[in-house]
Amino acid sequence: MAGRNLVLIGFMGVGKGALAREIVRQDPSLYALDTDDMIESLTNTKIKKIFATAGEPAFRALERKTADWLAANVSNAVISTGGGFFKVPTIKEIGTVAYLKADFDWILRRILDAPNARKKLKKRPLFQDVEKAKALFNERFEAYESVADIVIDVTKAEKEDLAKEILDKW
Ligand code: S3P
Repeated sequence: MAGRNLVLIGFMGVGKGALAREIVRQDPSLYALDTDDMIESLTNTKIKKIFATAGEPAFRALERKTADWLAANVSNAVISTGGGFFKVPTIKEIGTVAYLKADFDWILRRILDAPNARKKLKKRPLFQDVEKAKALFNERFEAYESVADIVIDVTKAEKEDLAKEILDKW
């Protein structure tokens, strides 16, 4: 049975991967997957390189392929996604969609406060320029919410409590 999954969406750097790992720590019957990791593994190419060589449309096509495969084959997974994955038309077929909500300044601070901030920025082709990233955030933030079944404000609590809240709402 596919479809019994939790799909985490939200802007780059909001903490989708970290929260997915915390959720599966709290409920070991679940498994954590990440769509960017799946795409890198499938193509044996880093996301940054896919953008640089094949281009963003090719990357978006890989996201759609990944979504369709997940919807057809996976259940009991908590799936963290790339910041643009919410645009995949079939996303709801994968499972329940949870939006991790935060304002842009909070996200920027979270990235810059990380010990590996430079690496976190370097691997994200759409976060090379703060003003451009902010414009992308402004363009997307309403759309994230309209796709979501669950909305979690991640700025108000630590990830342990956020994971509990998400599991309760799910
Ligand atoms: C993207 C976000 C990235 C990655 C790619 C494009 C986006 O994932 O999928 O660089 O369009 O917002 P993260 O949200 O994990 O940074």
